[in-house]
Amino acid sequence: MSGPRERKVQDPAAPLKDVEIVVGVGGGIAAYKACELVRLFIKAGAKVQVVMTRRATKFVGPLTFQALTGRKTFTDLFSLTQESEIGHIQVADRADLVVVAPATANVCARLAAGITDDALTSVCLATRAPVLLAPSMNVNMWQHPITQANLRRLVDVAGTFVVGPGDGFLACRWTGPGRLAEPADIVEAACRVLSPQDLAGKRLVITAGPTHEALDPVRYLGNRSSGKMGYALAAAAARRGALVTLIAGPTALPEPVGLDVVHVEDARAMEAALGSHAWGASAVIMAAAIADFRPAAPSDKKLKRTEIGLQPTIVLDSNPDLLGGLGAERARRGDGPLLVGFAAETHDVVGYARAKLTAKQVDLMVANDVTEPDAGFAVDTNRVVLVEASGTREIPLADKAVVAHRILDRVVELIAPRAR
Ligand code: PMT
Repeated sequence: MSGPRERKVQDPAAPLKDVEIVVGVGGGIAAYKACELVRLFIKAGAKVQVVMTRRATKFVGPLTFQALTGRKTFTDLFSLTQESEIGHIQVADRADLVVVAPATANVCARLAAGITDDALTSVCLATRAPVLLAPSMNVNMWQHPITQANLRRLVDVAGTFVVGPGDGFLACRWTGPGRLAEPADIVEAACRVLSPQDLAGKRLVITAGPTHEALDPVRYLGNRSSGKMGYALAAAAARRGALVTLIAGPTALPEPVGLDVVHVEDARAMEAALGSHAWGASAVIMAAAIADFRPAAPSDKKLKRTEIGLQPTIVLDSNPDLLGGLGAERARRGDGPLLVGFAAETHDVVGYARAKLTAKQVDLMVANDVTEPDAGFAVDTNRVVLVEASGTREIPLADKAVVAHRILDRVVELIAPRAR
């Protein structure tokens, strides 16, 4: 059977579960990082077959991969035992995804030319599964027009996916692009290849984290939001092909890779960021816990105990209702993004969420009970109810990454009939 390369489509919440991944290891110093990559793939539920070039075996022993995968490492196309026991066509046929890491300049050149003089290049040409390359080489080799042309050819002609290379200090002591992408980023790229791209080309604006409302240059009024729910939504949307703008209040979370992140401090800065980004978007998802009030007269100098007395009074002003403002403006314009809010409640969770759905004129409220120890603020899991005018749907307790995908499943359905 021949035809275009097939792409297995998995649940985006666990796209590597039970998939067959061939990890092709090229002969570069970054070959040692492929060990961590294989470990991460296996941890994510994949079954891994490693195929090494002869030169790669000079950097890492095949036995290391054999111990990690529980499978014989395939190194020699011309070995009678390996070819009969493993067989490059069987490996190629069985694969759901082939990941080459590191993809050296030499491997890229041979793949671009269709040369199949070893096990790795043969598997890459014989497979109908998608191929993801993680290039790694000296900066000058990477920037060489021949290497660039080879990569373009692989992408344009063969539909090959590419992740990285990263920029930084290289093993050859040069600095610049050429570093193998971090193993976690290669895993995420693999997840994207196997996930439905049902948000491809859609622009999503997602808010996350708390706001800090300044009292003076040192102190602020804030809340318990860690940003985990909003960041999980942003990562999940990016995995499904969305162009994500994450508007984030102050959090301690690592900077997400490959997203447009706008950092803001307080509610009014979040309002300004939303004003710049919301109206061109397909959907706005407001997971941020935005302060409803702010100190009316923040001091530009640190307040001294001696000046404010022992029982100071803080006078508060109301912050704007950002989501309500978007809902009202959309009603006025008669057009705008799908609007999704979160309702953080402590009792009558669905009742209050339903009231907010109407008051803020939005399409979907995601209600969570923030008094539950395993849901809401700061924890890694959540349990939510999707509240719409047409009814409710429960999403049971799960990791916030999984909950994010289940919310996006509904967002995908809701934006499908819309023009953008
Ligand atoms: O960040 P984590 O630690 O992972 O925690 C996740 C979460 C509990 C913060 C998240 O799941 C959540 O519930 N976020 C919404 C918190 C909140 O502010 O809820 P609310 O019911 O007060 O507000 C309702 C909606 O209006 C929210 O979408 C909120 O972003 C928005 N809002 C609120 C106040 C305000 N002035 N303007 C707004 O737009």
